[in-house]
Amino acid sequence: MVAEPRAAATNPLRDPRDRRLPRVPDPCALVVFGVTGDLARKKLIPAIYDLGNRGLLPPGFALLGFARRDWDHGDFEELAMEAAKAHCRTPWRPEAWQRISEAVRFVPGSFDDDEAFDTLAQTLIDLEASHGIGGNTAFYLSIPPAMFPVVLKQMERTGMADNHVSGGWRRVVVEKPFGHDLASSRELNHLVDSVFTAKDVFRIDHYLGKETIQNLLALRFANTLFEPIWNAHYVDSVQITMAEDVGIAGRAGFYDSAGAARDVLQNHLLQLLALTAMEEPVAFDADALRIEKSKVLDAISLPTDLDRYAIRGRYEQGWLAGERVHGYLDESGIPKTSTTESYAAVRLGVETRRWAGVPFYLRTGKRLPRRVTEIAVSFAKAPHLPFAVTDTTELGNNQLVIRVQPDEGVTLRFGSKVPGSAMEVRDVSMDFSYGAAFTEGSPEAYERLILDVLLGDATLFPRNEEVEASWRVVDPLEAFWAGKQPHAYRAGEWGPRAADDMLAADGRSWRRP
Ligand code: BG6
Repeated sequence: MVAEPRAAATNPLRDPRDRRLPRVPDPCALVVFGVTGDLARKKLIPAIYDLGNRGLLPPGFALLGFARRDWDHGDFEELAMEAAKAHCRTPWRPEAWQRISEAVRFVPGSFDDDEAFDTLAQTLIDLEASHGIGGNTAFYLSIPPAMFPVVLKQMERTGMADNHVSGGWRRVVVEKPFGHDLASSRELNHLVDSVFTAKDVFRIDHYLGKETIQNLLALRFANTLFEPIWNAHYVDSVQITMAEDVGIAGRAGFYDSAGAARDVLQNHLLQLLALTAMEEPVAFDADALRIEKSKVLDAISLPTDLDRYAIRGRYEQGWLAGERVHGYLDESGIPKTSTTESYAAVRLGVETRRWAGVPFYLRTGKRLPRRVTEIAVSFAKAPHLPFAVTDTTELGNNQLVIRVQPDEGVTLRFGSKVPGSAMEVRDVSMDFSYGAAFTEGSPEAYERLILDVLLGDATLFPRNEEVEASWRVVDPLEAFWAGKQPHAYRAGEWGPRAADDMLAADGRSWRRP
């Protein structure tokens, strides 16, 4: 029987709603809790400015800040303008800010202050009359998870979370970490879901907002070239790296209570793994993507020998970019008795027919030689080489490398003949670079994700089930590491020796990104 060609509408990336047409959200307000924090200043407010500058904010748009500061609207507007000016991606245009600044409001108060929340609720009602925001509001919780319960209770008490009371839509954006382990994330999810309907909860993993991560889906599902070899028959192993040269950057309190595995592995790295390994979704939408990613996360297996295949590290004093930097234990705010890791590497399996037997090596760390995130798919060696062994010594595995950042693009490594009379074969690279191929710049991850929240598009937001499945992977690692000292590495090195030994034990080595 000859297979029918598939209808275009079933192609996940051929969305009938043309995504090239810029869609502008309904009139609405965005309330930011934790507006004085780093995230709001460096990412959220600049992203709002960039959206406004690109004409992607609705005419009736209001920005509200809530914090324990003795400020009026003008003070906040000035701070927001400075933040936008300092960190915006698109050119600074005073007239673009001017339009946003007309509806910037600030509500002072602490999270347990009923009166402040009543004022916030009233401000939203007033903005409906003055700026036509139509009862639509997104609440961005850029606050420590310990504060969630009190803020959510306040929203419930004042009816602010209620779509029916407001007559428009109400959405909540939750920043990671989603809990500390499976039990606390369940509690948190339960709490959020008791105040907002599940479809109105947007959990941010900003890596999903990065262009290159979305390109991974295009690469896999819009082409025929890669999919036939995207499986255990052809793939030898996968390495996912997220390396940073920075240290803990003034976040000692949070970081020391989390560590690299909770901060990055549990969310960014496992999401990258899920997108790399998942089956084709039946549509490019939130439900279809969540189903496929969840299947992968549920199929992840941990190695039995954790001693060898789950490695943590902690940086010691060293040199980076010509500067001497402190060790982790000497960072301000870190207790000398800390056993928290700044580096984690682990070998995982995905127990499905497609991936059985293929190791996925994940690593992340602070104070590594440079900032780089990449997914490297290494293919099996050719089963037979008709060339002299001495002529192929510089031939490695074929590799497809998705460069997430910086220098966004894709590299394909394969063997090629060296010019000359001998049949010498050596690895070469073929490169696609975003910067060279496209003239338009990539939006910042937060720009894309905030716009999606306002549009109500949850495609790039992990669901509850994914968060819990990821904790099921990380909890046993944390239990294994508890009470042990991490291995040492010098700042400026690619992690501890034990991580190299882990790959050497499998006859492999880490890629030098
Ligand atoms: C955050 C982590 O989620 O991602 C930080 O909490 C990390 O520790 C940051 O520095 C890295 O993000 P990006 O986009 O700069 O790679």
